[in-house]
Amino acid sequence: MTTNKKDPNILITGTPGVGKSELSRLLSERTNLIWLDVSKLAVDNKCLESYDQNYQCQILNEDKLLDLMEPMMCEGGKIVDYHGVDFFPERWFDIVFVLRTNNTILYDRLDSRGYTGKKLEDNIDCEIFQTILEEAKESYKEEIVYELQNDTLEQINDNINRICEWIEQWKIDNQ
Ligand SMILES: Nc1ncnc2c1ncn2[C@@H]1O[C@H](COP(=O)(O)OP(=O)(O)OP(=O)(O)O)[C@@H](O)[C@H]1O
Ligand SMILES: [Mg+2]
Repeated sequence: MTTNKKDPNILITGTPGVGKSELSRLLSERTNLIWLDVSKLAVDNKCLESYDQNYQCQILNEDKLLDLMEPMMCEGGKIVDYHGVDFFPERWFDIVFVLRTNNTILYDRLDSRGYTGKKLEDNIDCEIFQTILEEAKESYKEEIVYELQNDTLEQINDNINRICEWIEQWKIDNQ
């Protein structure tokens, strides 16, 4: 899949609140890559099913979402922004960035978003136990999985610069 694309496909993942959407938005402004906010894509295209009372969220119809995304991903040049990693086809991505945030900072971000109780605790645990990082390493070749610390505005800029450099190198290597 890497051979005939003009631009790479990038997965931006991590626990809710680590800054995936903020980073993806800024990255899409800096590059010609298209940002796909998977949660929004799922809502807009009716890929959500029954409501999970326990987790206060809706259940995703993964097959429907994957069918929708397949032609987009084949084109290349997509920034995929999602807190899950394990159900996407491995062949879709040229690189995977797992954003990480300090627990206290993440707590404040989720709290100010109005998250409380089990939902707040589960998300903090998810970050403490590096759940998404582990899933990413299990789902993709370890050499394409990178952790990026994303606590501060300075770090988000560094992260974007680093990803831009990687994109330029990818283009040279895949001309
Ligand atoms: N590096 C950063 N420094 C300071 N604030 C940040 C940083 N990154 C993100 N934020 C802020 O943290 C909040 C959460 O960011 P964002 O919505 O991008 O997270 P997310 O990972 O997309 O979450 P979700 O999985 O729920 O969609 C936002 O208010 C955003 O502006
Ligand atoms: Mg988001």
